[in-house]
Amino acid sequence: MCGIIGYAGHKSAANVVVAGLKRLEYRGYDSAGIALLNGGGSLLTVKTPGKVTELEAELGAMLAEKTEAGKSGLAIGHTRWATHGEPTQLNAHPHLSPNGNFAIAHNGIIENYLAIRDRLISKGHEFRSETDSETIAHLIEEAYEGDLQAAVVTALKQLEGTYGVIVISAMHPDTLVAARSGSPIAIGIGDGETLIASDVSALISHTKRVVYLDDGDVVTVTPDNFDIVSLKDVPVTRGATEIDWDIEEIEKGGFEHFMLKEIYEQPAALTNALRGRLVHKDQTTKLSGMQMGPADLAHIDRFIIAACGTSLYAGMVGKYYLEDFASIPTDVLQAAEFRDRNPIIQRDSCMLAISQSGETADTLAALREAIRKGATVMGLCNVVGSTIAREAGRGVYLHAGPEIGVASTKSFTCQVAVLAMMSVLLGRTRRLSAEAASRMIAELARLPELAQAVIDQEPSILSIAEKYAHCEHAFFIGRGYMYPAVLEGALKLKEISYIHAEGYHAAELKHGPIALLNEDIPVIVAVPESAGKAKTIGNMQECRARKSPVIAIATEGDTDIAAHCDDLITVPRCQEFLAPIPVVIAEQLFAYHVARLRGCEIDQPKNLAKSVTVE
Ligand code: F6R
Repeated sequence: MCGIIGYAGHKSAANVVVAGLKRLEYRGYDSAGIALLNGGGSLLTVKTPGKVTELEAELGAMLAEKTEAGKSGLAIGHTRWATHGEPTQLNAHPHLSPNGNFAIAHNGIIENYLAIRDRLISKGHEFRSETDSETIAHLIEEAYEGDLQAAVVTALKQLEGTYGVIVISAMHPDTLVAARSGSPIAIGIGDGETLIASDVSALISHTKRVVYLDDGDVVTVTPDNFDIVSLKDVPVTRGATEIDWDIEEIEKGGFEHFMLKEIYEQPAALTNALRGRLVHKDQTTKLSGMQMGPADLAHIDRFIIAACGTSLYAGMVGKYYLEDFASIPTDVLQAAEFRDRNPIIQRDSCMLAISQSGETADTLAALREAIRKGATVMGLCNVVGSTIAREAGRGVYLHAGPEIGVASTKSFTCQVAVLAMMSVLLGRTRRLSAEAASRMIAELARLPELAQAVIDQEPSILSIAEKYAHCEHAFFIGRGYMYPAVLEGALKLKEISYIHAEGYHAAELKHGPIALLNEDIPVIVAVPESAGKAKTIGNMQECRARKSPVIAIATEGDTDIAAHCDDLITVPRCQEFLAPIPVVIAEQLFAYHVARLRGCEIDQPKNLAKSVTVE
């Protein structure tokens, strides 16, 4: 989703900001822009629909003439994912105030912008864009009496909605002001330079020392200093955090796409997710971030999982784990539905918010609603220091490393691994025997090896992808643990290849969707060794009877399957509960190669964003 970067320091701010915007590209966007100080005490903006490279070219041409601006040490930049108004040059950020003295870049949505706009128009203001964000620049200009921070605070107090906002002014040549309410902002503290960004990946090549703003914080930044106050002008202290990953981890490292790199990283990501958490000698797991002793764990009598997209499907696998191994009834809800349904939260319910980014607006809103209702809450996040992780206060980090490709890959498999570990921990406070837990732990320890065995099959998955890349529709079916796995497989294929793909419970196909089957519509069937295998083989026969080609994902060495499918992808033998991990990795590789063969923009699919910060 939208990305913000700002720089105050001794380097060419234009270069730093453009490089930062490139780091933010993975979030998904459709226009980009920059505002910087021009030599003679004025501001200059360059904005383009399309990619940051187009902005870079236009900016380069502009700076060839305006060499003073090229030397400026103050700039802000933005990648916009269109909400109010199309992705045009005029709607791109940063937006200037009417007198051109203030420039703002904004993430989020201003809900009362129409009322503000009408009031300002009646006072003679002219608006250049259709955006909600431009009102912020007008309000700052209206409130300005020589103190930039005070003007920003006055403007922000009039807003309803969400914002991560950054402001510069021609009258304050070394100052950035930024604020947060519902949309993340981090400050990067460098040596004689300070940066502000919506995402630390844009800061990491300059500094690893980061301070996260909380909602209601307003920060004023100069190259050597930063001061945070609340909207009520009360000084606020926020501690700095050291980022523990490197720039190499967010570079492609020789892979054609981040998505492929991240698929290949799964053995290492799973190793990190498991590290120190499997306690073989005590037949249990250790998840310190949950901050719960056995007595607290034993009190939980219901789980409510709220999440979106891929995280939701990981949550569905988690429901099966918590019910099968810990005997705890678990509901899984799409996060927006959780909040909209005004859920019943009982005293010993625990709400688990699952989110790779930790910033998804619907999941965050569900978490806040659960907190408001007095539930025990936990976050299961990948991004350390993200809003959900911080507001939940307890939970488990994935340690999957930065995920840049818009399509979630390694976070799904690590989420499932962590949920399995949670179910062992909770199960041991209930009826999960030491022997059963021990077998699960031994199997969990095999996960990196299982993941690698699927990745090693890439060449054969590629040749199957070549056969089906031309298709426009596909179904994915499975039952039991394979049901969420096929929902995830269909999501992966549709989001990156734009093939219409639907995931169904294998038994559900004949209740309607089977009417669509024909020789042009392949059915991908997840059918590893499991209790439901025989029934799923029956469903494969139903598909073939309607001439649909069947691609089976089955256990290596299983001789029952080949006769019932047209193509076969094998996954290594494992206990049934862990099969979603190898099966989903096979689906990721299939989706990746289909999308690549179709020439799709894999890491930044159209209309999608890595971090969905609007509800
Ligand atoms: C799909 C995908 C999305 C996300 C969803 C939730 O590949 O990436 O469906 O899973 O937007 O994102 P997080 O997990 O960051 O809350």
